[in-house]
Amino acid sequence: MTRVPIIMPAAERPTGHRSVPLLVEPSLGHYPEFRSFLTTAFDLGAPGPGEPGLLNVDGRIYELVFVARSGQRFPAGVEINALVVGLTPLDESAADADLWTILQWLVEGAGGEWSADALVTTGEIYRIPAARSRQPGPPAGKARRETLVFDLYGTLVDPLSVSDELARTLPRGDAQRVAVEWRRKQIEYSFRLTVMGRYEDFAWITERALEFALAECSCTLPPGARSAVMAHYSALQPFADVVPGLEMLSEAGYPTVLLSNGDPAMLRECLENSGLQQYFSSVISVDAVRAFKPHPAVYRCAADTIDRPIDETRIVSCNSFDVVGAATAGMRTAWINRGGGPFDTIGDPPGVTAGSLTELASALSMIEM
Ligand code: 2OP
Repeated sequence: MTRVPIIMPAAERPTGHRSVPLLVEPSLGHYPEFRSFLTTAFDLGAPGPGEPGLLNVDGRIYELVFVARSGQRFPAGVEINALVVGLTPLDESAADADLWTILQWLVEGAGGEWSADALVTTGEIYRIPAARSRQPGPPAGKARRETLVFDLYGTLVDPLSVSDELARTLPRGDAQRVAVEWRRKQIEYSFRLTVMGRYEDFAWITERALEFALAECSCTLPPGARSAVMAHYSALQPFADVVPGLEMLSEAGYPTVLLSNGDPAMLRECLENSGLQQYFSSVISVDAVRAFKPHPAVYRCAADTIDRPIDETRIVSCNSFDVVGAATAGMRTAWINRGGGPFDTIGDPPGVTAGSLTELASALSMIEM
């Protein structure tokens, strides 16, 4: 799957949004191939006022305002604005990544001597002067940073912290045993379903694993407690190093995406409740390929979704099976060793090993791309 903007009907322009200018290109007249692509894509030849075009990129909406100028063919210019809800601040890194996707889409649509590769390899958006001030890539001439592909459960949020919720009903010792057994069985079930060629979403697996863990530990939960425990799973909080580490990596210019076994609904809730949504330009669930980590299709899906060669991505995970799986599929690797134990013996050592995301940011700063 390649990330491409989706054209939306003008009538679907969302209300209560404000326009945040991202890019102005006043002189489309010099580039007839762009004008004709835009005219076709947004049906600008139809009579009537030139409504702004709308593009949806991973759920974020952008408008293309077509500028008329007397004596010039329409459109003479184009402005690209992000539509942002109310007063919420613009998510700069997501907007930059999306603008880059829109520009690549425009360049591929214009065709001819224009090439999307030129945008990525040179990092220089020549002949669209106005975009130069907002090029989201690295300085001209330097290769673009690798994309960091983050795992969620265990790496950014702690599934074992659900023992606190369990301890509201069970003795603390039982709560901790159930939490550990629950996580172990959840992952085991994901492996077994994938090996059998079956697929059930992660919410289903998580519930079945809880049932097993309670039986294994000879514990029972009253019905209300069980739904509270399952709801808590979607409200797991980030480890203390996660936000500072993601801020450091964003400052260093790393594109960051999320890749998880969680199904889309679980990921949406967990990222909203933890406040981590803003740090990822794409959220990729294995649901898209109906197979769980470490199946190679999962990692290939991530590289396809962000439209980058898989060897320009780096998995960031505390789960060694995830790190070995990603390496087998061709990703670079970073292991966040939160437990302090040894790495698996069935794969090469991780490219980078760190105890936290802040340590990872420091370690990566020493590695030339
Ligand atoms: C995740 O995919 C491996 O459960 C972990 O988020």
